[in-house]
Amino acid sequence: MNTADFISKKTLETIINASYTWQTPSNIALVKYWGKSEPQIPKNASISFTLNNCHTITTIDFEKIPTITGTSKSRTATFELFFEGKKKDDFKPKIAKFFERIQEYCPYILDYKMMIYSENSFPHSSGIASSASGMSAIAMCLLSLEKELNPNLTTDFINKKASFLARLGSGSASRSIEGPLVVWGKHPEIKGSSDLYGVKYPNKVHPIFENYCDTILLVDKEEKQVSSSIGHNLMHNHPYATQRFKQANDNLNQISKILQNGNIKKFIALVESEALTLHAMMLTSNPYFILMKPNTLEIINKIWEYREQNNSNICFTLDAGANVHVLYPNSEKKEIELFIKNTLSNYCQKKQYITDTVGLGSKKI
Ligand code: PMV
Repeated sequence: MNTADFISKKTLETIINASYTWQTPSNIALVKYWGKSEPQIPKNASISFTLNNCHTITTIDFEKIPTITGTSKSRTATFELFFEGKKKDDFKPKIAKFFERIQEYCPYILDYKMMIYSENSFPHSSGIASSASGMSAIAMCLLSLEKELNPNLTTDFINKKASFLARLGSGSASRSIEGPLVVWGKHPEIKGSSDLYGVKYPNKVHPIFENYCDTILLVDKEEKQVSSSIGHNLMHNHPYATQRFKQANDNLNQISKILQNGNIKKFIALVESEALTLHAMMLTSNPYFILMKPNTLEIINKIWEYREQNNSNICFTLDAGANVHVLYPNSEKKEIELFIKNTLSNYCQKKQYITDTVGLGSKKI
């Protein structure tokens, strides 16, 4: 499918009032996306686990704006935003920009006043990026309205368009519609993959990766000093950019084999290398920056020590921040959770962490 396929056709039905609620997940990339060109086109393909407990729940109430003869339709979306029960005017510019970017594909949004009510399952300012789940939740609510306006839309189209729209809000949000594994970015080895939207990983996955666990260690809950969009931009003219984009695509090829054959030792090596390479890109950009904190490194060393001593399959990955995602198979859950509680939590702010598993994607509520 190409961009033109996502421009909504003339609506068939008339809807005056509607309300939809969606729960959409956060995700954690195994092969990372870092670097893009306009409009939100990734420089390499990425793959992520969809999470289960870390999600956003968003309701949008739509009310049709009466047309007054002689006046022209508004050219910008009309909306109010409430986050965890409170009006949030400081989040509005980001959402307004998102609506501006997508109105070409969803012109019907200009016909409605939208009241948006959103909440996250994870604590606010936990350092967990909420843009992926936040943007995908809005996209799913819009697609619910679009489906009522055009009842012949298929589920496959709805998922693709929701991912396409979410991507225009935040790149990684394109991977927050479906689960348990989603690929975003065109890749010759992944059937159906596209730069425009995320697709469910199409091959059969080895049972060792079923119900895989991810415990997020909250090392630093402050807003990060360098945003992802600045970080992505620093990949333009980055001395290692070309090599990195090639490596990521090669790694996607590798991980696709690993996900099918269940070679967990290779999984661990690839996932940790991806995390450290992402941060190496930050360390070597101009200007350079560091998002890891001393406790991020303490945790990594403790994980390596534990893995060695216990012949464990624990490993870590990192987002664009200081928090550590601890990944492990469900079969080792009991002992690893004890290790997290007794040892790793000492390196977290207020000993806080969030236990999660891989999930199946967005749900209508
Ligand atoms: O979606 P963005 O623009 O916030 O970028 C996120 C990039 C990483 O989280 C660091 C990696 C990824 O693939 O999710």
